[in-house]
Amino acid sequence: MSPNIGITTKNLKKSATILATILSNEMTLYVKTRKFHWNISGNSFMELHKLFEDQYRLLENNIDEVAERISQLGEKTIGTMKEFIENSTLKESPKEYASQKHMLQELLENHEQMVTEFRDYIPAFENDNHDIGSADFITGLLQQHEKMAWVLRRYQA
Ligand SMILES: [Fe+2]
Repeated sequence: MSPNIGITTKNLKKSATILATILSNEMTLYVKTRKFHWNISGNSFMELHKLFEDQYRLLENNIDEVAERISQLGEKTIGTMKEFIENSTLKESPKEYASQKHMLQELLENHEQMVTEFRDYIPAFENDNHDIGSADFITGLLQQHEKMAWVLRRYQA
């Protein structure tokens, strides 16, 4: 049964498609942050090992929130690695083991890319799809990614 919440079926589908991209990016960044948590070494090992854990826990929560919002809009939520890779705009680096400095840089760039993309998605939700709930939800997510990016940026000399 389609939700009767003042948004057309077409617009619900359009919002769900954007949310599937966001979900895929949250998943990609979650996996990447865990990889770095496992492989970090160097003079800030324990600090960054813990920092990455704090951040992947936030990302894990985001994954669930975004997926459930897709469901709230009446659409099926993707849930396979294949689909996450296909729908993600972030790039992975298989077989590469970055230095501490490059891990921080890569995570920072990924968060900044997501924040930048959110700036286009938010008016699309609100103005094109009349989906103020998703616009507000993603605004909160944008602020959270801005904060994670700020923490990572402070390590750049
Ligand atoms: Fe761990």
